[in-house]
Amino acid sequence: METKLYVIDKEEPDIRILAEAADVLKQGGLVAFPTETVYGLGANGLDPGAVAGIFAAKGRPSDNPLILHIAEPHEVEKLAREIPANARALMERYWPGPLTVVLERTRAVPDAVTAGLDTVAIRLPDSLVARTLISLAGVPVAAPSANTSGRPSPTTAQAVMTDLAGKVEIVIDAGPCGIGVESTVIDCTTPVPTLLRPGGVTLEMLMDTLGEVEVDPALAQGSAIPRSPGMKYTHYAPAAPMTLFEGPAEACEAGIVQAVSQALAEGRRTGAVVSAETAKQLPQSAVIAVYGSRLRPEEAAANLYSALRRFDADAVDIIFAEGLPEQGLGLAVMNRLRKAAGYHIVRCA
Ligand code: TXA
Ligand code: MG
Repeated sequence: METKLYVIDKEEPDIRILAEAADVLKQGGLVAFPTETVYGLGANGLDPGAVAGIFAAKGRPSDNPLILHIAEPHEVEKLAREIPANARALMERYWPGPLTVVLERTRAVPDAVTAGLDTVAIRLPDSLVARTLISLAGVPVAAPSANTSGRPSPTTAQAVMTDLAGKVEIVIDAGPCGIGVESTVIDCTTPVPTLLRPGGVTLEMLMDTLGEVEVDPALAQGSAIPRSPGMKYTHYAPAAPMTLFEGPAEACEAGIVQAVSQALAEGRRTGAVVSAETAKQLPQSAVIAVYGSRLRPEEAAANLYSALRRFDADAVDIIFAEGLPEQGLGLAVMNRLRKAAGYHIVRCA
C-alpha cells in the first residue's frame, strides 16, 4: 500500500482532506492523525476488523487495550455503562484535553478494543484536526500512538512515516504535537480513582479536582526495580541500551559527564539525552540530544520522543539519560524515561 501524506493547517484544517480521511476510516482503513499529545493510529472503533488492522500495523500484543477517541462529551454515554460523579467532574474540567478516563463499558464496545476487559478507555482530544476527523467519521476512533510497538511515540508526521509508511492509507501532518507525551490514563472504576499512566493532565491537576488519587503500584514500583538482566520492561525505547541518572541535578550532571567520557574513552559511540544545562558540559564527540531546560518539564515533554528517536539516525552503542524533578509534566517524562531505560537506573547523590 502506498501511504498518502497530507500536510494540513492546525488551526484551519482543509475539510476535504479530513473528509477523505474520514471515508477511509468508515471503510475500515487506517489513518494516522495528530493530537495535542502524540500522533495516533486511528481506525473505526466499532469495527473489530478495522481495529485488528491497528494491532497488525503496529505489531502490538493483542492483550493491550486501545483508547476510544470521541468528538463530543455526550458520546461517552453510548460507550460507558456508568459514569461516576468523579469521572464526570474530570471530564467537565479537562475535556477536551490530554485525559483518558477508564469506565465500565457497554456492549457497543467491541472486545478487540478492550482486549476483553469489562472496561473501556475514552478520551476527547483537544486537537481541532483530531476532533474534526472523528466528527466526520461519525464513529468513536480507536487509536494508540502511531509507532511500531515498543518504539518511542511519534510527535511528528515524519516519525509516523518512519514506522508506518506502507502500512496505513493516510498520514495527516499538522506539525509537531504541543504536549509531546501521551494522555493521562485514570481508572474511575475504583472507589478512589487510580492513576494508571501519568501524562498531559498532571497529578497535581487530578488532585485539584478529586482531592484523592491512588497511584497504580506498578508506577511506583518501576523506580525501585534495580537492573535485572533479562527482564523485559523496555518501552518507548531507542535501539541502543539506555541508563537513566536520577537524583539532584548537580550530582546527575557530574555522573553523566563522567559516564559519557568513560564510554567515549572505551571507543564506544555514545549518546546522551540531557538538559540544556548538562549538554554544555559534555564532550562534543558524544551524540547529544537536548530535551530543554531542566527547570521546564513541559519543554522536556515536548522534545522527549524526538530526542530518543534521534539515535535511530545516529546509531549509537550506548545512551545515558538525565532525569528531572517529578513535578508537573516531570512525572510523565520520568515514567517514559524509566521505561525507555528498561529500569536501568543509576541513583546519584
Ligand atoms: O495521548 C494518547 O493517549 C495517545 C493519543 C493518540 O490519543 N494514545 C495512546 O494510546 O497513547 P496507547 O494505545 O499508546 O496507550 C493507551 C494506554 C495503554 O497503556 C493501555 O494499556 C491503556 O491506555 N488502556 C487502554 N484501555 C484500557 C483499559 N480498559 N483499562 C486500563 N488501561 C487501558
Ligand atoms: Mg503507545
